[in-house]
Amino acid sequence: MPLIQWNNELSVGINSIDEQHKKLVNLINELNDALQSGKANQVLAGIFDGLAVYTINHFGYEEELFAQYGYPESQAHKNEHRVLIQQVNDLQEKMNQGDFMISVEVMVFLKNWLINHILKTDKAYAQFLKDKGVL
Ligand SMILES: [Fe+2]
Ligand SMILES: [Fe+2]
Repeated sequence: MPLIQWNNELSVGINSIDEQHKKLVNLINELNDALQSGKANQVLAGIFDGLAVYTINHFGYEEELFAQYGYPESQAHKNEHRVLIQQVNDLQEKMNQGDFMISVEVMVFLKNWLINHILKTDKAYAQFLKDKGVL
């Protein structure tokens, strides 16, 4: 069973964003599966790298929309992104140093940040951007 099941509650109602969030959910599930099935550290690190890169690109996509349409809460949202990226980088560093004992901690953290960020911070911009015609 996947760690995170996509459901409509996670939808922000903007197609391009939902697709990216689904991809993030898939990557976190993939990492969880790989951890559960005892995949080699190199495999885990590879998936984690992919997740980190995708996350940075996704945050960049949102931030470009904020700039383009003048989203008033942009700064606070960007700060949250920056904190999340820092946390992902810290975990990535631990993993690269061979500290895979943190695996459960990592998965709980990833699941919670993704869900909390989507449900609160991302949903807060949804109506604003939809009103601007973003699909
Ligand atoms: Fe965001
Ligand atoms: Fe997002």
